[in-house]
Amino acid sequence: MSKKYISIIDVKDHVGQEITIGAWVANKSGKGKIAFLQLRDGTAFFQAVAFKPNFIEKFGEEEGLAKFDTIKKLSQETSVLVKGIVKEDERSKFGYELDVTDLEVIGESTDYPITPKEHGTDFLMDHRHLWLRSRKQMAMMQIRNALIYASYEFFDQNGFIKFDSPILSGNAAENTTELFETDYFGNPAFLSQSGQLYLEAGAMALGRVFDFGPVFRAEKSKTRRHLTEFWMMDAEYPFVTHDESLDLQEAYVKALIQGVLDRAPQALDILERNTDLLKTYLEQPFKRVSYDEAIDLLQEHENDEDADYEHIERGEDFGSPHETWISNYFGLPTFIVNYPASFKAFYMKPVPGNEDRVLCADLLAPEGYGEIIGGSERETDYDKLLEKIKENGLDPKDYDWYLQLRQYGSVPHAGFGLGLERMVTFVAGTKHIREAIPFPRMLHRIKP
Ligand code: 4AD
Ligand code: MG
Repeated sequence: MSKKYISIIDVKDHVGQEITIGAWVANKSGKGKIAFLQLRDGTAFFQAVAFKPNFIEKFGEEEGLAKFDTIKKLSQETSVLVKGIVKEDERSKFGYELDVTDLEVIGESTDYPITPKEHGTDFLMDHRHLWLRSRKQMAMMQIRNALIYASYEFFDQNGFIKFDSPILSGNAAENTTELFETDYFGNPAFLSQSGQLYLEAGAMALGRVFDFGPVFRAEKSKTRRHLTEFWMMDAEYPFVTHDESLDLQEAYVKALIQGVLDRAPQALDILERNTDLLKTYLEQPFKRVSYDEAIDLLQEHENDEDADYEHIERGEDFGSPHETWISNYFGLPTFIVNYPASFKAFYMKPVPGNEDRVLCADLLAPEGYGEIIGGSERETDYDKLLEKIKENGLDPKDYDWYLQLRQYGSVPHAGFGLGLERMVTFVAGTKHIREAIPFPRMLHRIKP
C-alpha cells in the first residue's frame, strides 16, 4: 500500500525527494534565520531544518515570513505535517535530515508537562500516557514488539499451534503465587496466573501448543522485577522429557535475542545496549547447573568480596541477590534445574529416585535481570498428582478436569512460561520492569 505520509524510519528510501511526514515536535532550537525541529512519529526521531530565506523565496515576503514565524514558535508536542527534501547527514546519528519546504500545524500543544529536563520517576509514571512518547520509551516498545513477533515466528517454525487459555478461571494454576479473586455471578473466580493447566489439555488435543496473554499475580512485593499484570508466553508439548524441553527453551531465547538484533537495531542503539554481549549469548551454550550445585557455589563464595547475598541453607529458595550472583558468576543465561519440591508448584514431576527434587528449571538471565523462564516436566500419574494436590492444600474438586488428563492417555509432557517484560528488560538492558510494558500495574499503581 502506498503511503501518503512517509514514516521517519523510511526516509532513507527517499533521499533527494520531497516528501510529507506526519509528526510531533519533540524539541526545537535555532537562531535568527534557522530553526531546527526534532521530529518524532513513533518510528524514529530525526531533525528537520527550516531556513528563512528559502521560505521567502518560495512563498514571497509576507507569507514566507509568517510561515517561518509559525515554525519558530512551535511548542513541544505540537502535531504537524512537514513537507521537505530528504538529505543525507553524516553528522547526525540517524544519518538523515529534512530540509523543510512547508509546514502545517495540525494540533496545538500548550505547556507539555514532560520537558527535556530531568523528571523524577513518580512524575513520569503519573504521566505514563505521555512519557511513552519519549525516545527511550519508544525504543522499549519497539523491542517488546520485536520479541512478540519473533516469538510467534519461532513457535510457528517449530510446529506449535497458538491455543488461547482463558483469563477467568475457577482454579489456581500456580499454588505458589497470590491470586486476584473476583465475583463470577455469585461464585469466586480468579484471574489467570498462567495458562499452563489449560495448555496441558491443549497439548493432549493438538500436540505442540503455546499461548500468549496477560496473567495476574497479587504480588505484594515491590521490586524492580515484579508486576501484578504481565504477559506470559507459555508453551506445552507432549512426548518430551525435561532435558529436551531445555534445548527448546534455549533455542527459543536465542531466537528472541536474534529477532531483536534483526528487527530493532535502532532501538538497541538508542538504549546503548551492549550488543556484543547479546551476540555472546547467541554463540555460547547456556549454562546448566542443578539447584544443589548452585547452593554449593553460593555457600563456598559467601565471603567473597562481590558476594552481596546472605547465607543460604540448602532447601531454601533463592532471593534476587542469589540469582544475580549466580548469573554473574557464569556470565551467561543459566538454567538452574531440579529445585526442591517444597517451594515449587504441585504439578511438577519428581526427579526419579529423589522425591525431594523436581524436574524443573528456572532460566536466569545474565547481568542481573533475574528469572526469565520457569518450566518443568509435569506429573503424569493420576494418583501421585491427586496426592500432590491434597498435600498442597488445594481442593481436588477444583482440579477434576485437570486430573482427567491423566486418565485418558496420559503421556510424558513438559512446558515452560517466559515472562515477556523480564525478557524486554534483559534484551533492552533496562533495570526496571515498569518500562517494559505500556501501562505497568504494580503494588501501588493502577493509573493511568
Ligand atoms: O515461573 P512462573 O511462575 O511459571 C509459571 O507460571 C508456569 N506455569 C509456566 C509454565 O510452565 N507454563 O512464571 C513464568 C515467568 C517467570 O519466569 C518470570 O519471567 C515471569 O513469568 N514472572 C513475572 N514477570 C513479571 N512480574 C511478575 N510478578 C512475575 N512473576 C513471574
Ligand atoms: Mg518461577
